[in-house]
Amino acid sequence: MLVNARDMLIKAKNEGYAVGQFNINNLEWTKAVLLTAQECNSPVILGVSEGAGKYMTGYKTVAAMVKAMVEELNITVPVALHLDHGSYEGAKKCIEAGFTSVMFDGSHYSIEENVEKTKEIVAFAHEQGISVEAEVGSIGGEEDGVTGKGEVADAQECAMIAALGIDFLAAGIGNIHGKYPANWQGLDFEALEKIKDATAGMPLVLHGGTGIPAEMIKKSISLGVAKINVNTECQLSFAAATREYIEAGKDQQGKGYDPRKLLAPGFEGIKATVKEKMELFGSVNKA
Ligand code: 13P
Repeated sequence: MLVNARDMLIKAKNEGYAVGQFNINNLEWTKAVLLTAQECNSPVILGVSEGAGKYMTGYKTVAAMVKAMVEELNITVPVALHLDHGSYEGAKKCIEAGFTSVMFDGSHYSIEENVEKTKEIVAFAHEQGISVEAEVGSIGGEEDGVTGKGEVADAQECAMIAALGIDFLAAGIGNIHGKYPANWQGLDFEALEKIKDATAGMPLVLHGGTGIPAEMIKKSISLGVAKINVNTECQLSFAAATREYIEAGKDQQGKGYDPRKLLAPGFEGIKATVKEKMELFGSVNKA
């Protein structure tokens, strides 16, 4: 069932768990995430970065594929199709293409400009029943060309953005896209607590879900995080399983070169990662 992400995140916040956003790259990725969500009876958010949207030939292709796949696979759990780190133009295009949720990432603008642009996207999206995520502070590292220094979000600025009628808020709290460096300081829970107090019950989003230790995930959820984004970890499990298949020479045995066989171990790798995260986030059987 394709829905916006608003109600599923309010429910998650109220019941003390988080919904995973898993970024998709192609048909295999999408199918793996959807089937795992159905098997786990869990709500799920499919994340699409602007780079991945371009790779899949455009947002219209993505929206049509997801809509058809949800129907053909009889997916009955709530599924949101969400733009990840969208630009102003990207968010508008996704709304027109049939996405059910968008993130407008205005974190690289001044707070005044972030407020102005977020307000416009909220008006445009809500007119069509589409949920909106905004960002304050920044997520460190790089994802599909979006880079950030990792500034910790200011609680007052979070309050300003939360007051614009957005549905959920991503706030930088020392989280990073991609693998965490060995000298990573961990999440800034003091900052998260201030943000939680300043945003009056708004579901919060934790980006950079790959590699965050389980105790930190649980503590974040207890402090108002209701959506956790995971991208790199599925890429790593896909790559490891594919490498193992090829290094074992299986692509050379019989028709092991058949793309459906060649991509199968990586597909199972994504499924295992998604299941593990759903269990950790507490969203199993919450559909
Ligand atoms: P990771 O790649 O670190 O899991 O981050 C995902 C993310 O935050 C998507 O916006």
